[in-house]
Amino acid sequence: MVYTPTRGDVPVRVGPGARQLPEQGASQLDRHVYTDATRFELERERVLRASWLMVGRSSEIAGTGDWMSYEGHGETVVITRQPDGELAAFHNVCPHRGPAFVVDQQGCGARRFTCMYHGWVMDTTGEVVGVPEREDFDPAHLDGLRSPKVAAGEWGGWVWINLAGPQDAVPLVDWIGADIMADLGQFRMEDMVVLERLEWEVPVNYKAIVDGFNEVYHATSLHHSPPEFTKAARHTSFHIVGNNAMMFVPRPDHLEELWESGDHHRFAICHYVVFPNTVFNCNPRHIQVFHPIPLDVDRTKFYCWQLIYPGEHGDPEYDQYFASMQAQWQGLKGVVAEDIAIYQQLKRTQRSMGYQRNTLSERECKIAHYHQVMDEMIRD
Ligand code: FES
Ligand SMILES: [Fe+2]
Repeated sequence: MVYTPTRGDVPVRVGPGARQLPEQGASQLDRHVYTDATRFELERERVLRASWLMVGRSSEIAGTGDWMSYEGHGETVVITRQPDGELAAFHNVCPHRGPAFVVDQQGCGARRFTCMYHGWVMDTTGEVVGVPEREDFDPAHLDGLRSPKVAAGEWGGWVWINLAGPQDAVPLVDWIGADIMADLGQFRMEDMVVLERLEWEVPVNYKAIVDGFNEVYHATSLHHSPPEFTKAARHTSFHIVGNNAMMFVPRPDHLEELWESGDHHRFAICHYVVFPNTVFNCNPRHIQVFHPIPLDVDRTKFYCWQLIYPGEHGDPEYDQYFASMQAQWQGLKGVVAEDIAIYQQLKRTQRSMGYQRNTLSERECKIAHYHQVMDEMIRD
């Protein structure tokens, strides 16, 4: 049997009796949040260096010495699986003269890393363990030398890092928050498998991409959703939970069941945004995870994972599920392509004197809230 997520003990989030909108109301947003290079630098320093950022699937680094890397906003980080099963993460910066010493993106079973420049050797936690012609250096300079530590953690089958480091990073569970952990946790992402991962480089600010996943308003026009979807989507509920947000979009063919059972896991599309750039779009049988990693103020690496539930190939029930998930994913890729296409149009106006501000409806409240959180974090 393929696992089917249900609401379980989680509160009713959408439908009669559930609050639909937070107190945000309609608002406006200055365009400079997407285009100002000085502001991007502040976000780099105060937001991206203090937030939990998703890297990839835990299963990709299951064995001792397996490692993956994170690259974005001028940072390069390596995350390794330690013999005790825990993760270690460190800046991929050679303490000798500064180049990245891990060249590849991902690998298995590493015991140490060697910098290609002068051959310094680092262990899998980033500590310097070998220096050629060591006698030429001041021993005090080499004592305890290492590449700086980065905090690493796992939740939902995902590897996360925080550049603030193990001493200063807030706990990952607090960052995601109890509400989202309980609600999104019902999907058991940790058990899921990757059907495909897609990757693009897009010419817009990463926040413009997050914005697109913080509303359902564009589905009718950009994705040509049928009128029934648009009608049901008027009942969408929007929830702000700390710095993060949730959104539950009723599925038009299951409206009655949703109202009766209150089971949004089975009868709604469940969205979760973990500040600043991790988006989970959950359907009862599959999940898309969207992850825009800022490269620069106007350049973003954009990843999308399609997750499905595991099972035995050869089992007729699972084979049927798998085939339908493949077909569904083909369709969804077209939808994602429509999202990507709009970024080209956003790029055309990035420097235009005609673009001053965004005009947001009360149902674009999550966008307004997201930018408020960002503002608070970069404020002096
Ligand atoms: S810069 Fe890495 S060994 Fe010299
Ligand atoms: Fe979209």
